[in-house]
Amino acid sequence: MSEEKIIDGKIISAQIKEEIKKEVINLKNKRNITPGLAFILVGENPASVTYVKSKGKACEELGFYSVTNALPESTSESEVLELISGYNEDKSIHGILVQLPVPGHINEEKIIESINYKKDVDGFHPQNIGRLIIGSKCFIPCTPLGVVEMIKRSGIETKGKNVVVIGRSNIVGKPVANLFIQKSLNSTVTVCNSFTKDIKEHTLKADILIAAIGKPHFVTSDMIKKDTVIIDVGINRIPDASKKSGSRLVGDVDYDGCIGKCSKITPVPGGVGLMTIAMLMKNTLDSAAGKIYG
Ligand code: GUN
Repeated sequence: MSEEKIIDGKIISAQIKEEIKKEVINLKNKRNITPGLAFILVGENPASVTYVKSKGKACEELGFYSVTNALPESTSESEVLELISGYNEDKSIHGILVQLPVPGHINEEKIIESINYKKDVDGFHPQNIGRLIIGSKCFIPCTPLGVVEMIKRSGIETKGKNVVVIGRSNIVGKPVANLFIQKSLNSTVTVCNSFTKDIKEHTLKADILIAAIGKPHFVTSDMIKKDTVIIDVGINRIPDASKKSGSRLVGDVDYDGCIGKCSKITPVPGGVGLMTIAMLMKNTLDSAAGKIYG
């Protein structure tokens, strides 16, 4: 299928990482600062283990200092809070990331709110989310920021366009919808969820469709108008007997069904997922350089 239809997360994230690498060298040479990122992973959720490993590798690749705390499932909430409190004070750490979801006995909200919002490179703290909505400077959640960066770097117009978001999670749906209504992007945004009646009525109006519902192949070609731009945030593992592992990753969009009808589309894997990591690195670099909160 035509190359220009594909918004390639590999190419765009590699460009961003190259830019970051240069800035890291500058920051080290001019101000003797090395960006530092602390990871906290509780339990052994396989997807989370993979994500944290990939994020750690990106730190190595870009010259960041990083420390990973892989803690057992039985770790108490107070132990995690204590660890966070230490990193809040640690001058060598500019970003703190607690991989979500956390086990059920740990209160996610309490954990997020305990992170110094000036080191909240995930952009999940209410202080950052509030500022995002107002349009003030803040850390923006990495996946939504990655979506916007992909759109901008692909030369896609957002002003006056209908953006339809499927999904309203705190990590993707809510922040991405709030980004697109800002004056910087000027879109008209509709947010759908699993209770939306006649979802097709909404998705058929989308100039830009952002699928973040966590359901494999949820968006089918009959749900989109011709020439829409599709951003697929989904990362779902489905059984596939033809693969050695017995499974493969697919998005929330029926890629093969939609590629003939849309104007652009992000693949899974190789799309938004790679951007999430690139933007985490960017947020951490900006934190180290004092670009967000000085
Ligand atoms: N779980 C899924 N996505 C994310 C993310 O971007 N950050 C964190 N901390 N956890 C996640």
